[in-house]
This record gives sequence, C-alpha cells and structure tokens, in this order.
Amino acid sequence: MTSLFDPLTLGALALRNRVAMSPMCTYACEERDGRANDWHLQHLASRASGGVGLVLCEATAVEPRGRISPQDLGLWEDGQVDALRRVVSSVRTQGAAFGVQLAHAGRKASTHRPWEARSGVAAAEHGGWPDEVVGPTDERFSEGSAIPRALEERELAAVVQAFASAAARADAAGVDTVEIHAAHGYLLHTFLSPLTNSRDDGYGGDERGRSRLLLEVVKAVRASLPATKPIIVRLSASDWVQGGWDADATVRLAGELGERGVDLIDCSSGGAAQGARTKAYPNYQVGFAERVRREAGVASGAVGQIADPRQAEAIVAEGRADVVLLGRALLRDPYWALHAALTLGAAPPWPKHYGWAVG
Ligand SMILES: Cc1cc2nc3c(=O)[nH]c(=O)nc-3n(C[C@H](O)[C@H](O)[C@H](O)COP(=O)(O)O)c2cc1C
Repeated sequence: MTSLFDPLTLGALALRNRVAMSPMCTYACEERDGRANDWHLQHLASRASGGVGLVLCEATAVEPRGRISPQDLGLWEDGQVDALRRVVSSVRTQGAAFGVQLAHAGRKASTHRPWEARSGVAAAEHGGWPDEVVGPTDERFSEGSAIPRALEERELAAVVQAFASAAARADAAGVDTVEIHAAHGYLLHTFLSPLTNSRDDGYGGDERGRSRLLLEVVKAVRASLPATKPIIVRLSASDWVQGGWDADATVRLAGELGERGVDLIDCSSGGAAQGARTKAYPNYQVGFAERVRREAGVASGAVGQIADPRQAEAIVAEGRADVVLLGRALLRDPYWALHAALTLGAAPPWPKHYGWAVG
C-alpha cells in the first residue's frame, strides 16, 4: 500500500510526498507586469514550509492576451524570469518541488479580479489591454464576457510557440515541472470540447482534430524542457453536459499524452459551459483520476474537495490517484501537510529547523 507521505518519482523529479498545492490564481501582480513579487514568494514558500511535496503556482499566462486579469502572472517575456526564479528558489529551500502552470485564458481572458467585478474588462478601462480576446470560435462564454475573435488556423503555430517559449523561460527560472492548463474552459479546453469547438478546419471536427492543439502544445513544451523534467497536464475530465467532453475521451487522450511524454494527468472538471456545474462534494472528481491511472496507465492527480487527511490518505492508499492536490484547504491552512502527517502518524515533513515542535 502506498501512503500519502511516501515519495513519488516523476521523470527525474523526486517528490517528498504526494500532497500538492493546486494552482490558484491570486491576482497579485502589479497591474500588467506579470512578474512574481513578495506576495507570491510568501504565499507559495509558506505552503512549502508547510510540508507539501509539490507547489503548483497559479495560472501563468503564456501571452498577454491569455491573462484572466491584468494582475495575472506571466512568462511571455524574458524580463519575467528573474522574479520567478526567486520564488522557485525559496520554495525549493523548503524541500518542496516547484511547478508553474502555463495557461492561456482564451475566451475567458480579460476580466476584472473576481472581488472587483464579474464582467469582462472594457478595453478602455485598462489602457487597452489586452488587444483582443481569442477563442476557437467567436462564441462568448457568457453574457458579460468579451466576444472572442476566432483564431485562424495559421495563427495556431504562434500559440503553440508561446507555450513552448514560456516553458523554456520556466526552465530558465529553475522550475522542477510545468503543468499545461487544458481545463476549466480556457483556451486549450475550448479546443478539446465539442461544446465550444465547432471549427471545420484541422483543429476541429472529430476528437482527433479537437485534440490536435493540445497535442502540439505538449510536443513543443516537451522539446523546450530537458527530457527528464516532468510535464503535467490539467484536464477537465468531464464537461458535465450530455454531448460534451467526457471521462471516456479523457482516458483516450491521457493515453496519447502519456505516449508523448506527459508524466501526470491532473484531473479536474467543468468550466466550458455556463450553468453546467455539477454539485461538488468530497472526492467528486477522484473517479476520473482513478480511471486515467488504471485504464490509460498514466500517473494521475485527484483534486476537488479533498480536505481531510484520512480522505487524502485513502485516495492514495487505495490506488485511486498518485497525488492529491489541495486548493482551498491549503488557503485555510498553509501547514495542512504537517498537520495531516501528525494525524496519520507519519513523520511530519517539518523543516529541520522546526524539529523541536513535536516529540
Ligand atoms: C482562488 C482560486 C483560484 C484558482 N485558480 C486556479 C488556477 O489558476 N488554475 C487552475 O487550474 N485552477 C484554479 N483553481 C481551481 C483549484 O486549483 C482547484 O482545482 C479547485 O479549487 C478544487 O480544489 P479544492 O476543493 O481543494 O479547492 C482555483 C481555485 C480557487 C479557489
């Protein structure tokens, strides 16, 4: 039986345990500079000193028009590398690995910070950023979101290149792994889902066509990183809508991703269709991770309402996922992993400087 506090190897990366911080936007950059700052350093390093094995930092835009808000992190230019390197270094000092989530918000880009307003950002409000919002089609996500411009087929190579260049910058910043964000109704997910991709060119149509952009991104990112550096892909394993992307499609895609050098599939769900939200409950997405691991033979991560140490332990011990990712539980308690280790009777991953705290 594997335990939550057993190490895990992904590629050449050794994680000290199977607890990961799920990527969470904090909208904390100086407006439009996309650079990590003291906020990101304390926020992420404190979860590392709190004992998690892997810190996945928030959605980080691969190009300016891929930002959700003007305060998003970015890796679209070389000038953003040094600031991130400082955060990576601080997290690693605390014994955790650092992963950056590379993202393009697609038709969900260009909004205010959630606590400011829900609606899209009018260009004039923020000095005309970004220059436009793009998607697989010109259909918008919801009333109040920007109307996207449908990306032309000839433009997609530049999108792929943006992911590859951002991955190379992440590597230069010293990250241990890169997660490609292909979930939650953002650009790559909207290409995957039949609900949002009605294109009739080589990037639409059947499942193969709709998967093409993500597969090209993965290939380009793989080529931008050292071969031993693991890649994670976050998928929305189900759109929770009849006729949408579903768990069977996820298992098929996971197999293809595994063959192309993806080391772990992070199994989330939803986000493509407004109003399609399923009722979330503890472990509601764990079944997706279990199927990916068992049927596609690729390591998987489970996420979503995992907050109780025994619940997390059971997911790993029962072989339902290789990693558990925690979001809001880690916002509530940066030291969740230390407390969980005490509850489960495992050796707590304390920094050695705090060894006096127990026993
Ligand atoms: C404040 C906040 C920001 C989030 N930002 C991201 C993000 O940047 N990328 C992402 O893939 N998911 C994001 N999520 C989703 C979380 O990673 C996670 O999948 C979700 O919160 C469910 O896990 P939980 O029940 O443990 O919170 C965010 C969630 C929250 C609460």
